[in-house]
Amino acid sequence: MAMAATSRDADVFDEAVRGTCDDASLCKRYAVSIGYWKDPYIEYFVRQPKERKAPEISRGYYARVQGVSQLLTAFLKKTECNCQIINLGAGLDTLFWKLKDENLLPKKYFEVDFPSIATRKIHHIKSKPPLSKPIMESHSGESLLIDAHSLDSSRYAIISADLRELSKLEESLKKCNMDPQLPTLLVAECVLIYMTAEHSSALLRWATSTFPTAMFINYEQVNMADRFGQIMIENLQSRQCNLVGVEVCSSLESQRARFLASGWQTARSVDMMDVYSRLPPADVKRGPGVPRRERAAGAADAPLLPLLGHQGHLRPGSCRHRAVARPLRWSSGHACRPLPRGLCLIQHQPAPPL
Ligand SMILES: C[S@@+](CC[C@H](N)C(=O)[O-])C[C@H]1O[C@@H](n2cnc3c(N)ncnc32)[C@H](O)[C@@H]1O
Repeated sequence: MAMAATSRDADVFDEAVRGTCDDASLCKRYAVSIGYWKDPYIEYFVRQPKERKAPEISRGYYARVQGVSQLLTAFLKKTECNCQIINLGAGLDTLFWKLKDENLLPKKYFEVDFPSIATRKIHHIKSKPPLSKPIMESHSGESLLIDAHSLDSSRYAIISADLRELSKLEESLKKCNMDPQLPTLLVAECVLIYMTAEHSSALLRWATSTFPTAMFINYEQVNMADRFGQIMIENLQSRQCNLVGVEVCSSLESQRARFLASGWQTARSVDMMDVYSRLPPADVKRGPGVPRRERAAGAADAPLLPLLGHQGHLRPGSCRHRAVARPLRWSSGHACRPLPRGLCLIQHQPAPPL
């Protein structure tokens, strides 16, 4: 009986974790709809949210999307796209289509998520030509493989897998022609915190032992031990979503330590304040970063600063506390409060330094 209860609890928890992909995509769609950045594809994955999102949320997503995109683009340019990207816990991310439009597709772009998320994504792709056409256009060679749970074209694959089950993950990636010898960029946006420290460390170790040349962009919470972090934990717990990996998110230093202890050779960080401050001033002050409606509402003022101050981003070449973070988990009830987040860029030599 005890075993059955435990496995039921785990199912409920995993379901709550899967629900977070809608949260992220809805916030992104909202921010796109009011002009923070352009993404002509997100509308095919999630409906426009009925309720307004607080300006700090949209601006936080803007900084996250820009921060991750800049790192990712630098990697693609450095490797001249002769590389592969593995997006871990990709949810309904639209990055493949953006890279295709920018003529920046890697040799292959892989996405991994739970089967139910992958199935939903594939359903959208199959039923919406603006999503399927770019995949067909980038495909060459034998016929594209697509079923309810997986998609494999020559440049894009969606893999149903649990990131805690590494041998199955590796087997599925290999079936889709993952090439361990290619420079590899692994991306995790607000994903590792949903796994225990043991599971995330095993995933990171697997990556270093599988890819001789790799980088990792990790965007997630930092400073979770403070009051705001506690509020966030409680809010998610009320949705049955336990942040089981939260112990690693106490600081940028704890984030770095996890990577370094898992075989990664360098790990650096920048906080979201820093990332935000490096965004083009024209965008931040007058351009898409601050839509007119939100400028009029005074959104460019103080609340953002503490918000970003709780987000972190690690990257090679610098090491700062309070680093810029990417994927943010907000609870609507506390949207105006500072949020603990971190973005890390981790390097496994001899990855090309960014
Ligand atoms: C907060 S969402 C972020 C989605 C996407 N990275 C983004 O930023 O839009 C977290 C995603 O990680 C996925 N995820 C979490 N734990 C996972 C696991 N053990 N295996 C596969 N996917 C997982 C969830 O299903 C969800 O899609």
